[in-house]
Amino acid sequence: PASTRLLPHGDLAVGRVSLAEVAERFGTPVYVLDEGEVRERCRIYRGAFPDADVLYAAKAFLSRGVARWVREEGLGLDVCSAGELELAVTAGFPPERVVLHGNAKSPRDLEAALRLGVGRIVIDGPSEIARIAAAVAPGERQKVMVRVVPGVSAGGHDKIRTGTDGQKFGLSLTDGSAQHAVARILDQRGLELTGLHCHIGSQITDTEPYLVALRRMVGLMARIRDAHGVTLPELDMGGGHGIAYRPGEPSLDLTSFARRLRAELVDGCATARLIVPRLAVEPGRAVVGPAGIALYRVLAVKNTGGKVFVAVDGGMGDNPRPALYGARYAPRPVGRRSTASLRAVTVVGRHCEAGDVLAADAELPGDIRPGDLLAVPVAGAYHLSMASGYNLVGRPAVVAVHDGTARVLVRRETLDDFRGRDIGE
Ligand code: LLP
Repeated sequence: PASTRLLPHGDLAVGRVSLAEVAERFGTPVYVLDEGEVRERCRIYRGAFPDADVLYAAKAFLSRGVARWVREEGLGLDVCSAGELELAVTAGFPPERVVLHGNAKSPRDLEAALRLGVGRIVIDGPSEIARIAAAVAPGERQKVMVRVVPGVSAGGHDKIRTGTDGQKFGLSLTDGSAQHAVARILDQRGLELTGLHCHIGSQITDTEPYLVALRRMVGLMARIRDAHGVTLPELDMGGGHGIAYRPGEPSLDLTSFARRLRAELVDGCATARLIVPRLAVEPGRAVVGPAGIALYRVLAVKNTGGKVFVAVDGGMGDNPRPALYGARYAPRPVGRRSTASLRAVTVVGRHCEAGDVLAADAELPGDIRPGDLLAVPVAGAYHLSMASGYNLVGRPAVVAVHDGTARVLVRRETLDDFRGRDIGE
């Protein structure tokens, strides 16, 4: 985080709190979230998109504390399950500022969305149209959008590219299934179609693919107007805004991205003689990613078969991203000053599989040893939200740091939690 400061003895402070002290007080592994940084990133978004809705994508990481911060900073919320929705609402998030996504919404997801009164439900496929319409109370109307696949390929890894046909999300622009769904929704008395949605992928550092997608979405809006005489008032361009995970890596430049997106929208609408719809964006990673640090204790060091392995007390259970997407991180030591020169090591976790590698090519001081602390920066998004229960290691605690104080947001998972759910013999 921007608030990171070097302290004496090789320690780091985040939000004016020493990481070595956090490890001492709360144990490891622990995820440290800089509240000031999350709030600042929300403000940067509000500033870059003054006349758009900014919805935080809860899938990146959600806790009641985070829901409160983003609400207080004026953001809405993108959820994709009843779980995310209800956790946010219990934290005081106004349901009308929430959008529900999902390619396979369960009866419980839809029940919670309608009962709590979410602002928008994004329809991902034709079978949802009748389901939602049937669930809406007589005389009421649920606001919905349609998720469109604009045929644009973008994203940091094949598994997180969602802008082209051939993947499970949304309805194709190319084969006409999006237009067909729009026509059917317009026929439903219980549904109010407020606009179109697309999300072309994740960890995108280039503005160009968004502009291509936006042009196609505006084109579709114009065709809908021509075919049905309806001008849709909203256009949600999804999230996917890329961040740097290691020093020197590119990130999406938000200010220029926002400006170019806006200009393209205004231009495209002028050409199509369309009233400019209200824009929405749904950043997840870019709001919380850089605000989080994973803090591990080194448990073992060994030199074998030509490699030095540094094993820590977490791993793929709390951060599956290297195993899933080949994601790369730059771990660094914390809390002990070393004068040893750097050497290439492989930082691995404690889980029972060889693929449990956190950083295949880390550079750490040659005297790194058990008991040392390792910090993995840019750990705020898609780590704990995708954490697993593998090996019953227990999911780490999340500690918020702010203005010199540290407090637990989510406590560590313990044996009592495992025992509590295990109710049969
Ligand atoms: N909106 C929709 C509809 C989405 O599906 C997503 C992410 C977002 C917004 C937020 O995208 P973001 O701004 O965070 O990139 N687990 C993967 C990322 C999967 C993203 C899924 N959808 C990772 O760790 O890289």
